[in-house]
Order: sequence, then C-alpha cells, then structure tokens
Amino acid sequence: MTDYRPVPEDRFSFGLWTVGWRGANTFGDPVRPPLDPVDAVYGLADIGAYGVTFHDDDLIPPGSGAAARDQVLARFGKALDDTGLAVPMVTTNLFTHPVFRDGGFTSNRRDVRRYAIRKVLRTIDLAASLGAATFVCWGGQDGAESEAGKDDRAALDRLKEAFDILCGHISEQGYGLRLAIEPKPNEPRGDVLLPTVGHALAFIRELERPDMVGVNPEVGHEQMAGLNFAHGVAQALWHGKLFHIDLNGQRGVKYDQDLRFGAGDLKEAFFLVDLLEREGYAGPRHFDFKPPRTEDMDGVWASAAGCMRNYLILRDKAAAFRADPDVAAALAAARTAELAEPTLAPGEALADLRAEEIDLDAAGPRGYHFERLDQLALDHLLGVR
Ligand code: GCO
Ligand code: MN
Ligand code: MN
Repeated sequence: MTDYRPVPEDRFSFGLWTVGWRGANTFGDPVRPPLDPVDAVYGLADIGAYGVTFHDDDLIPPGSGAAARDQVLARFGKALDDTGLAVPMVTTNLFTHPVFRDGGFTSNRRDVRRYAIRKVLRTIDLAASLGAATFVCWGGQDGAESEAGKDDRAALDRLKEAFDILCGHISEQGYGLRLAIEPKPNEPRGDVLLPTVGHALAFIRELERPDMVGVNPEVGHEQMAGLNFAHGVAQALWHGKLFHIDLNGQRGVKYDQDLRFGAGDLKEAFFLVDLLEREGYAGPRHFDFKPPRTEDMDGVWASAAGCMRNYLILRDKAAAFRADPDVAAALAAARTAELAEPTLAPGEALADLRAEEIDLDAAGPRGYHFERLDQLALDHLLGVR
C-alpha cells in the first residue's frame, strides 16, 4: 500500500493561473488574494510537483518595463533554483486585455493580429530561455458569436499564417520548442475556432512545418463538446501529436468547469490514465484546473494535491486491472488482440478476400463479451478487487 505521495519523476506540473486563480466568475468577485508566483513555486514544490507553467502575464505584470521584468525573472529564477522545479511549458495570454475582444491571431483588426504575434514571439523567446520544451497556443477569444461578422476561411488563413511565422522564428533561432494547439469548443466566445482535437489535427496538416506543431488536449474541453476524451487522446497519440496534456475534471456538456482531476467523469479518467501509462506518454502530466471559489488558500492546496493523488491512485488501479488474470481472460474472450491483426494478411490478394464466404447466420449471433470486461474495470475502480 502506498501513501500516493507524488515525486518529481511523476512529472506533475501546474499552471501559475491554477493555484493562483482568485475565483472571479461571471457573477462573483474574486474571493482569494493574489498569489505571488514565487510563493506558488515554493508551494508547488512542497506538494510534490515537478514543474510550473505560466502565461506571460501571470508572471510578468502587463506593462512592466525592462527593469521590472528583469527583477521578476530574477526572483522567479531563484525560486526555481531553490526548489528544482522545471518550466516544461509556457503560453501566452491573448484573451484578457480588451484589445483581444475579437481574438488575437484571427481578430478582424490587422493591428491587433500583429500585436498578438509580437506578444507570442516575445513569450517564445522567454520560454526558450527557461528551457521549456512545449509552447501552448490556446485561441482564447479566437471565435465568434455570429457567422455574420467572421469569415471562417479568412480566419483559418490568418491562423495558419501566424503558426507559420511562429514556427519560422523557432527554427531560425534553433530553439528546442514545439507548439501545442489547445482546442476548446466554446467559452469565452460563443463558438471557438479549432473546437476539438480532430479539428486541430486536420489544421496542423495544412501548416508549413506540421512536424513542429501538435496538440494539448484538455479533459473538460472535449467533454464540453460531448466527446470521449480518451478517444481524442488516443487519436492524437496515433498521429504522434500528443505534445502536452491538460488534466482536469468536467461533468457533462456545460460551461468549462476546470474541476480537479478525477472530480469529473471518474471512469473516463481511469481509462485516460490507463491509456497514457500503457502508451508510455513521456510528457508532463499538467493540471489545468480551477480550485472552486468556495475554497480559501488551504483549500486551493488541498485541491492541487488532490489532482496528483487521484492520478496516482488511478495509475495504481489501471496497473492492477492490466495485471489481473481474470482481466486477461476477459480481454481474450473480447478478442481485443484480434483487432491488431491486419484485415488482409501480408501479401494477400484482394481476390482471396473476395472469394471468402462468411456464414452470416453463425456470425451474426456471436456476442463480444465487453460487458464482463467493463465490469472488471469498474470492480477495480471501485476497489472491490
Ligand atoms: C481554459 C483553458 C486555459 C488554457 C490556458 C493556456 O480553461 O479554457 O484551459 O486555461 O489552457 O489559458 O493558454
Ligand atoms: Mn478549461
Ligand atoms: Mn487548458
């Protein structure tokens, strides 16, 4: 029995904007004091995280001059040195300032688009200087409330233009950075561009440097669209495009809840952890959640610790599920391995396939035994095996 204490090897990371979220929502004011990024770093190290991530504006207050910026970076750098925390990912805030009310890369206003690209270029340089491997691009306000005011084709052209510029800059500078697009179906805009993992994967193929761009799927975002998150992640892995992941919890098709990991669809969380661990996903397990505004700072840290604890418990449960001989027998009965066999044997001619007969009367009634297998998963998850 383990106490599920996270260690840096677990590669758990958190955004400054998660534990630092002050709890303002559409109807309510902030409920918690600002959290100094340096205190966030020490706090995250204390609970066993390995990494911290941020938007440019989370760390460097917007409008800071060069001296203030240097001072912030020096204090932050010292906290990283003291704790050994890494900065595996950095991202840009292209959504808070009123100038981004119609988006960044796809604003109808050209000067805003140029400003957005400048802001991202500056943040990419910072990310590279901190040794980050991934740069996340979340559209934020890139979307629309009505089809009338937005030419989607032109918006996609501008989005591609922005990504091509960013990739050009990264490769010119020789940075070891890859971009990860974070899809989201809606919120804050009525509809957001690149709403799902599938849309993002298709878009990436149209870029000049598709090799440099992958996805950063977020549990809740796919679920907001009513989609199966584990399926989306499996497809991203299949394309070699799972560059990063945002773990959190969501209950159903509604506003972006950003609950702590495990506090949403627990069964899907189980199969997600099972998938990530079996596939040997080597990137950070990044938590992008919002501690509910009912919580004070003690509750914030309890919520953050809960994200990691739930991941570790699910990792244990998934391993036990895979090691269970009854599960092995149930998998065999469900013929899961048979799906890995090519439908045509190597070298087999189409004529062989055409010549074959299937006895539909015999094949139709065959059961697939998935329910027994699924119940074994639930038994493990519920702790009765
Ligand atoms: C959300 C998003 C954001 C992004 C982050 C990175 O909850 O809508 O997840 O939190 O991940 O801003 O740019
Ligand atoms: Mn979210
Ligand atoms: Mn996110």
